Amino acid sequence: MPKQGSVLSRFRSLDAYAKTLDDFRVKTTSGAAVTIISGLLIAILVLSELSAYRTSVMKPELVIDKGRKDKLPITFNVTFPKIPCYLLSVDIMDDSGQHLSGFTHDVYKVRLDLAGNQIESEKAHKLGDNSEGAELALKQDDPDHCGSCYGAPSPHENGCCNTCEDVREAYIKAGWGFNDPSMYEQCVKEGWRDKIETQSNEGCNIHGHLQVNKVRGNFHIAPGQSFQQSHMHVHDMAGYIAGAPDGHKFDFTHHINKLQFGDVIPDKMKRRTAKGTPVELTNPLDNTSRVTNDFGMMYQYFLKIVSTEFRYLNGMKLYTNQYSVTEHERGIITRQGQEGLPGVFFNLDISPMLVIYQETRPSFTSFLTGVCAIVGGIFTVAGIVDSVVYRAERQLRKKMELGKAL
Ligand SMILES: *[C@@H]1O[C@H](CO)[C@@H](O)[C@H](O)[C@H]1NC(C)=O
Repeated sequence: MPKQGSVLSRFRSLDAYAKTLDDFRVKTTSGAAVTIISGLLIAILVLSELSAYRTSVMKPELVIDKGRKDKLPITFNVTFPKIPCYLLSVDIMDDSGQHLSGFTHDVYKVRLDLAGNQIESEKAHKLGDNSEGAELALKQDDPDHCGSCYGAPSPHENGCCNTCEDVREAYIKAGWGFNDPSMYEQCVKEGWRDKIETQSNEGCNIHGHLQVNKVRGNFHIAPGQSFQQSHMHVHDMAGYIAGAPDGHKFDFTHHINKLQFGDVIPDKMKRRTAKGTPVELTNPLDNTSRVTNDFGMMYQYFLKIVSTEFRYLNGMKLYTNQYSVTEHERGIITRQGQEGLPGVFFNLDISPMLVIYQETRPSFTSFLTGVCAIVGGIFTVAGIVDSVVYRAERQLRKKMELGKAL
């Protein structure tokens, strides 16, 4: 038995927290105040630690982008207050050799009056593709009617050019300029003159979606239909250069409402960084304007597209893009003559880097560590404060008693 006792007492000697007897403890008011204050502090700090533990943050990371084979979706919405819709066309060109002129799939043009109000929304047609007029023209003629192509090769097998658009295509194929639609019977029938006259004081909003190869390239909004002529990309600008029938010139004043590559972040997927700033895609051209009075202004935007991936704790992923931009603008009329093409050009370049935003949350062990640090630290500091205050109090009291005695 005594042996056991000695083992126990030896074990007890390991106690680092030797207790004092309660009889020797004094409770003081200052001690109570320090206890309450430190208790409050602990509560506040633990709560903030808890909220930090429960909120996740986005941590950015930069890696080399390996998956670059996919397509690049483009969403755009640009307003041109001083060019009518029938003059504008959208072209895509890229380094892979893809070349799409007069791109119309999923592109919409909205005619705007001078005050910027919507007149009519239509799916983008090829320049001069007035399908109603074409139908009318066909109805009026007997079915065997074969319009002349004025010496150019017909786009159709039957060798006819029955619509204004046919004549245009034929001329473009032949590499001839298609200048004055009023010279061609087909165009006159389709009311080209009227169209030019009624729309010449209008503006145009173009918006839509494009899919391009994820390689270097450009897409541009320029006047007139474009075509390939001896391996050159040529725009038929006659209608634009001539200006409106009343003599005023068009120009490429424009307002970019939206230019976005890929998806936007849905509201429920928006998060903050560790610094507390919300994570947003950088789309610096949204809501920017350029104003000019020069009909020959060429606006070039050089965009670097940066792929961006969001990885969420629940396993969801969002793959999209943001971009940075440098701009250049100049008039096409130089001392050497005309150089370039008026219009708005977006030159796209793909950055080799991928930004990954990883949603992270502190681990439970780090939360526990934090709580222990708070509780332990505050108790220690409070102990020091308490003993200092207690000693100072005692000293003061002693001095006062001494003073009384004297
Ligand atoms: C394009 O932008 C204009 C101006 O912000 C807006 O009124 C219009 O609804 C937009 N069009 C589309 C299809 O988003």
